[in-house]
Amino acid sequence: MNSTLQTPGFTLADPSLWTNGPAEDELRILRENHPLSWHEEPSSEWFPEGGRGFWSLVRHEDVSAASKDQDTYSSGQGTELIDMPAEMVRTYGGMLNMTGEDHAKHRAIVSRVFTPRTLAQLAPQILEHARTCIARIKDREDFDFMEDLVADFPAQIVCDLMGVPAEDRPELIRLTGIALAGNGTAESYKTMTQIVEYAKGLAARVEVAASDDASLLRKLVDAEVNGERLSNEEVGIFLALLLTAGIETTATSIGQGFYAMSQYPEQRKAWQEDYDALAPRAVEEIVRWVTPVMHFRRTATRDIELYGQTIRKGDKVLLWYTSGNRDESVFPEAEKLDFSRESEVPHVAFGGGGPHFCLGAQLARLEISIFFKELFQTLPNVAVNGEPVRLHSNFVNGLAHLPCTTGRA
Ligand code: HEM
Repeated sequence: MNSTLQTPGFTLADPSLWTNGPAEDELRILRENHPLSWHEEPSSEWFPEGGRGFWSLVRHEDVSAASKDQDTYSSGQGTELIDMPAEMVRTYGGMLNMTGEDHAKHRAIVSRVFTPRTLAQLAPQILEHARTCIARIKDREDFDFMEDLVADFPAQIVCDLMGVPAEDRPELIRLTGIALAGNGTAESYKTMTQIVEYAKGLAARVEVAASDDASLLRKLVDAEVNGERLSNEEVGIFLALLLTAGIETTATSIGQGFYAMSQYPEQRKAWQEDYDALAPRAVEEIVRWVTPVMHFRRTATRDIELYGQTIRKGDKVLLWYTSGNRDESVFPEAEKLDFSRESEVPHVAFGGGGPHFCLGAQLARLEISIFFKELFQTLPNVAVNGEPVRLHSNFVNGLAHLPCTTGRA
């Protein structure tokens, strides 16, 4: 720690700041007065052991700059606030928690497979899953948007992507739920290793099967960059990462996005009236407004002088995407959902543009766009009719429940 520490009089590790939504007021105070601040991690319901404290970067330009500077702000010791043993950092995050050449190698291999073209080809399957989800509720009066409608939508798509057989999906999706809810606990780690074991087995089966299978998993197992391939274990860890990175985030964008539109009905009306033309901007604005992943963590690789303070080598630094996306210097009236918003500077919900920038951004955009189009076409009057119940977290800006009516009654 250091003698000139700026502490704002609260800590963003305090769960009570996040009960009704992101800690908007506190983050505004930080953006205005404490662009770099130190936060204690006392023991809490989330972290019974407490923690060693962390720095917070809250302005859009600082979150972007740190995201692009892996040599100084490294992901190598984990991207979650909680300090984990090295083995857990690897199994939990795979490439998300790698740096330098290791990360570059992984990224090169998976990018060869995870191409915009491959993803665009998934559109018909995504539409099919959207229809299945909507069919479950369309003849009802009331339903829960999160549980009854979107719950398994993104999960089925990741399973499609990786060629997970239909009979294995319910169990895999159940395990992913446990892993995500545990947020770094021993139970969630155990579950993650089960998922990795399953995916390793899947990769091994694919490796020996006839090679006319065009699934992404097949391509991933075969992909080679500079003579390097991923081992079955690495493929397994990657599948586990796709499940944890691709499910909650997308479901949250859709659920919170729908809730946001209930608060800004004129935006929804405009979109429903001219869906395809507005879709690219509407989807981007929803992701900015919601910011499903509210922070990721970095670790300082050296002493850093910033805003008159010293971040010591080894200190944890949190990049607050949810704050960067409310930065008025970049997004005027940032708290408003505005589908006509034009911004020169991209939002940071998918990361600040560095080497770890979300690999699934294109897929997420496609899923959100297809889902709302189908929903509005099938149930044009679908509406929120109760209070949402939030996931209690300062990491994922999620909803547990969102009571709705199909508008058919
Ligand atoms: C709206 C939905 C999503 C949001 C908000 C989101 C957000 C993020 C963020 C903030 C990062 C870290 C960026 C950084 O450190 O610079 C990330 C990385 C990643 N995301 Fe997403 N994500 C979403 C959907 C998805 C989907 C659908 C997938 C795949 C199925 C996915 C796969 C990944 C992967 C593999 C990485 C790691 C990339 C790397 O380390 O190089 N994400 N995402």
